[in-house]
Amino acid sequence: MASRVGNTFFSGLFSFVLFVFLGIFSAEAAIKKYQFEIQVKNVSRLCHAKPIVTVNGGFPGPTIYIREGDRVLINVTNHARYNMSIHWHGLKQYRNGWADGPAYITQCPIKTGSSYTYDFNVTGQRGTLWWHAHILWLRATVYGAIVIMPKPGTPFPFPQPNREEVLLLGEWWHNDVEELVKQGNKIGLPPNMSDAHTINGKPGPLFPCSEKHTFAMEVESGKTYLLRIINAALNDELFFAIAGHNMTVVEVDAVYTKPFTTQAILIAPGQTTNILVRANQAPGRYFMASRSFMDVPIPVDNKTATAIFQYKGVPNSVLPSLPQLPAPNDTAFSLSYTGNLKSLNTPLFPAKVPQNVDRKLFYTIGLGKDSCPTCLNGTKLLASLNNISFVMPETALLQAHYFNLKGVFKTDFPDKPPKPFNYTGAPLTANLGTSHGTRLSKIAFNSTVELVLQDTNLLTVESHPFHLHGYNFFVVGTGVGNFDPAKDPAKFNLVDPVERNTVGVPTGGWTAIRFRADNPGVWFMHCHLELHTGWGLKMAFVVEDGPGPDQSVLPPPKDLPPC
Ligand code: C2O
Repeated sequence: MASRVGNTFFSGLFSFVLFVFLGIFSAEAAIKKYQFEIQVKNVSRLCHAKPIVTVNGGFPGPTIYIREGDRVLINVTNHARYNMSIHWHGLKQYRNGWADGPAYITQCPIKTGSSYTYDFNVTGQRGTLWWHAHILWLRATVYGAIVIMPKPGTPFPFPQPNREEVLLLGEWWHNDVEELVKQGNKIGLPPNMSDAHTINGKPGPLFPCSEKHTFAMEVESGKTYLLRIINAALNDELFFAIAGHNMTVVEVDAVYTKPFTTQAILIAPGQTTNILVRANQAPGRYFMASRSFMDVPIPVDNKTATAIFQYKGVPNSVLPSLPQLPAPNDTAFSLSYTGNLKSLNTPLFPAKVPQNVDRKLFYTIGLGKDSCPTCLNGTKLLASLNNISFVMPETALLQAHYFNLKGVFKTDFPDKPPKPFNYTGAPLTANLGTSHGTRLSKIAFNSTVELVLQDTNLLTVESHPFHLHGYNFFVVGTGVGNFDPAKDPAKFNLVDPVERNTVGVPTGGWTAIRFRADNPGVWFMHCHLELHTGWGLKMAFVVEDGPGPDQSVLPPPKDLPPC
């Protein structure tokens, strides 16, 4: 953060020499600036136009290109009628939660007509991440990619691709999403599911009016392409495949993996996956396709989005072929695919898995119902962790923590559910007396944490992609059924487990993660299905300051939006 201190001392020739010196020998001090204008724009898809909230008028928004070591300044000016906040999903924001973005967790929203500059350093991370609105359901249209290049002179730990491309997978609704959500909340039921999936904002030729709304990338025979795939959908886990071409997975969530070859990938909302693909088939046009994974009888947008992998010189009249995507309910594929993900774990990119655990946490994931006399069924759906449905505060939690404001939150989030039960047995419809609260879990600085996330059959089992802000974690174990504390830990992978920021808890199963709490602040953890987040499937950790001078939360920036 020393780079934040402007130095007017060095002027004239000396600073010129210094500038040249830094320019040649280290690009680490680079400052990258972006301007984000939050503005409403009319956009047409599936033959319907509607106004949507955008960044700089783009859908998706601009890609942020940065390099490991850069300092990034992104000024966000809000011209829309909604309050706004932007989250830089997966950036660790060491000591600097002020730049993290989730509304009412680390900042109050940027009001209409106001600006805020997100100011952060990119340290120890390289790869694909993304940014999105972190308030209401505005991320339906307010999202974009973040590409972090390795430091100069540091090659990828895989064959250098000839070219790269970002593929943002998203969703599209005919109607105004905020209106749908409002109506859903009023009657206590989920809002309508999306009307299409999209690839780089475009649904592709399986939908009407697709002429202008199909994404195509031109490829040359024999060349290798790096695809940076991001699931920006609100509620759907997605399969992705390219007709006729195998893919090699090399990175997830901006962490290199042991390469493995696959015909399809599975990617949950919040996650990113980098793959290498070689244009080694007969020159032609091949569909890239994406469709939902859902292995319980819950309705989901099951329509296929397509884009085109187009060999150079092949005319557009050639009909592309569709890839074989796994069946929409292919649990076996999902489990074996995630089982293939391992950290690269080389001397240059070691997997620093905590071997001993200071703090063991066990959280159950539950759905439920609250009484709601004005709702359609007299009830409304809710979701909980350890039977607590999270209540959003009105003051940002990080401010309350930093300034020691009382009454905003409690730090009594329980380390385990109130009563153990057969979590994944027969469906449970009983009212378990779910409580509501803004309850956080306090974690000592630098302690090692193990968290087991256990799905339950409260109302229904379902898979849930959990995202932790401020950290990457290691996925040391996962399984179907109830976690067995006596037997399962012996099977944990403490050598090369995948490291990421968002992990799927399998349907009716569990996932164990470990991380070292070396980043002080208030860090949100939630299901990245927007539907479930809205129902309360979220909580936050307060990681205490450490004793060292560089181990406490930085002071807030002057332009931090007031509540
Ligand atoms: Cu990408 Cu709190 O989210």
